[in-house]
Amino acid sequence: MATNKKPGKWRRRTQAVRGGQVRTPFQETSEPLILTAGYAYETAEEAEARFKGESPGYQYSRLANPTVTMFEERLAQLEGAPLARATATGMAAVSSVFLGSLKTGDHVVSANALFGSCRYVIETVLSRFGIGSTFVDGSDLAAWEAAMRPETKLLFVETPSNPTLQIVDIAAVAKIADRHGARLIVDNAFASPALQRPMELGAHIVVHSSTKFIDGQGRALGGAILCHPDFLEGDLQQFLRNTGPSISPFNAWLHLKSLETLDLRMKQHCENAMRVADFLGRHKKVARVLYPFRADHPQHNLARAQMDGGGGVVSFEIEGGKPAVFRCANKLELIDISNNLGDAKTLFTHPETTTHQKMTPEARAAGGVTSGLVRLSVGLEDPDDLCEDLDQALKVA
Ligand SMILES: Cc1ncc(COP(=O)(O)O)c(C=O)c1O
Repeated sequence: MATNKKPGKWRRRTQAVRGGQVRTPFQETSEPLILTAGYAYETAEEAEARFKGESPGYQYSRLANPTVTMFEERLAQLEGAPLARATATGMAAVSSVFLGSLKTGDHVVSANALFGSCRYVIETVLSRFGIGSTFVDGSDLAAWEAAMRPETKLLFVETPSNPTLQIVDIAAVAKIADRHGARLIVDNAFASPALQRPMELGAHIVVHSSTKFIDGQGRALGGAILCHPDFLEGDLQQFLRNTGPSISPFNAWLHLKSLETLDLRMKQHCENAMRVADFLGRHKKVARVLYPFRADHPQHNLARAQMDGGGGVVSFEIEGGKPAVFRCANKLELIDISNNLGDAKTLFTHPETTTHQKMTPEARAAGGVTSGLVRLSVGLEDPDDLCEDLDQALKVA
């Protein structure tokens, strides 16, 4: 199982198509889906040697699987990361990073503009194990510095954040982490490695929901942790092996193949999102538009400096709060109401009543999630059709 290709010399777009590929003796051109739970050994001695780590090869797909390994290697190459471990979902990646490395008495600092489940893991799950957390305005570097304690081990940001598209200065926050002997985790789900590579900016760990733009077609759940060997070989490796947040080989195969078109898709998502954002920015029913590459985004310059494109998500505020948002949503003829994002199909989300519903009103307010806020994951349809649909729906808002 090998190829005669020379991966060392490839540029990123070639890595996206060929990185990590291993061929079976059939010499298939497309990556094989090795849908197996277990592996056979020629002899009992070989089984023993493999369990001792003295002989290479797979043992059980909770621990590793050849298709999953291909996805991990390709994603690591695209992120510029030393290694990746794929997980069943994005939340499995987020929770494993914390639970697989922290202990009682440790402390986490996080930006407060977060997806509801990320906030739940940090604030509620970690506190049950005596791990403290402090939430700060992610754009306020002095607040990050002030929140650091001797026991702070991990810093966490989503950038752009869900759903307010706040941009956090990755290089600056990574330096704060470095000064205090802590590590910065960046959730890169909204940008994807096509638009942003946090480890090149100094982040220590990246987490992904590959369910989103990496899959790109709303088909399968997945996630990943990207990090340095010393972090994996702390407690995380054993945590992952023994608790089993493993991705299905089938989902890993879908996401591996999706990486081949990620760059092209992200370019189109960005172009469509900018068109839709500009349309919304001119609309009289829209009070405010948030899109990282628009000049009126509060961190527009930072977004342009650390991202290669504004991404596929546009958030906007409709005057009249929840009733107006619901009237508009229910009038849509093309765009779907859904809480997912990163799909080829455009999806309309009201975060206050769905993805961020379980947060306290105070946490929602701190994260900028207002009653009139809409998150629009702009897909790959013709942007004129999207603008027309929004225009007719906004008439009743
Ligand atoms: C920023 C961010 N991180 C993590 C997740 C969780 O991903 P998953 O649904 O794959 O568990 C999401 C889901 O929306 C998200 O938006």
